[in-house]
Amino acid sequence: MESILVSGGAGYIGSHTVVALLEKGYKPVVLDSLVTGHRQSVAKDVPFFQGDIADSQLVRKIVEQEQISAVIHFAARSLVGESAEKPDLYFEENTAKTNRFVSTLLHCGVKRIIFSSTAATYGIPEDIPIPETAPTVPINPYGFSKLMIEQSFAWLEKAYGLEWIALRYFNAAGAVLDGSLGENHQPETHLIPLILKTALGQRKEIGIFGTDYSTPDGTCIRDYIHVLDLAMAHILALEALAKGTAKGVYNVGTGSGYSVKEVIETARRVTGRTIPAVESPRRPGDPDRLVAKVEKIESLLGWTPRFSSLEQIIESAWAWHRSHPKGYGE
Ligand code: UFG
Repeated sequence: MESILVSGGAGYIGSHTVVALLEKGYKPVVLDSLVTGHRQSVAKDVPFFQGDIADSQLVRKIVEQEQISAVIHFAARSLVGESAEKPDLYFEENTAKTNRFVSTLLHCGVKRIIFSSTAATYGIPEDIPIPETAPTVPINPYGFSKLMIEQSFAWLEKAYGLEWIALRYFNAAGAVLDGSLGENHQPETHLIPLILKTALGQRKEIGIFGTDYSTPDGTCIRDYIHVLDLAMAHILALEALAKGTAKGVYNVGTGSGYSVKEVIETARRVTGRTIPAVESPRRPGDPDRLVAKVEKIESLLGWTPRFSSLEQIIESAWAWHRSHPKGYGE
């Protein structure tokens, strides 16, 4: 059984990927600082190390003790707004610490890594859907912190033979289908969880951030991708890296976009609740549209989304929020 180190395995996308790894017969080993992750989101029998990716001694110990052969690296800060206020924090936590982490891994002989990247590397796209070859001009420090790592990997590949795939996620959403695992950010800033918290009566209303974008209904369009489909993309990426059939950067989205108003309407239908919405000012740094071109991941990794209709995403997220109104309840 191959042991895969999952940094940030107690986070939202990480914890869903741990479940997918178990289902596929891998042995996931989690390293998470629990700064934003939740211990309860990882099954008790999964080896769990609480600590920092920059703690080289700990990383070396885990690699040796657990005989790690590859790494899926999620651990990072991921709030766009916070990154604009504290760029140095993002450059330290996401860029500097990842460099230290990967350097330690390479010195221990671990060469295969799947990296959590983001559509925020593109900034304001020229073409929709966005191909991986589009210019990368991030408009926030979060996107920049991830782009620097992608670019550094090309040099580490040359010098040390790093084998890497960076997955540029579009908008991750949804939960495991039985609602036992889901999205629990503190603070929550993402659209779908906020809409569902409004449906539960935990919030008075959902704000629609901007109604004057150049989209058909004036609200921003995003490509929502089910977290389980995202998890599967990591497993296919691992397999392709091992076989040497793929490397580099891949978008992970569906190729279809929905506006904020469409998401709210769908949530009303799925939940049967009213969900009051109010038109609000734009949030700084939001591009009009972010929709992935997905031919590359479909053809080279053989990946295709299975759970990512907007209905399925919202149904699964609703199952989670209804059964866990306080999240993991810490
Ligand atoms: N939105 C609202 N009201 C809210 C919250 C969000 O109208 O209360 C809007 C936003 O303005 C945006 C859309 O809903 O137009 C989606 O917003 P999210 O905050 O859910 O997601 P983002 O598209 O801003 O960001 C996500 C990830 C980032 C990542 C980015 C890449 O959270 O980490 O996708 O596309 F960088």
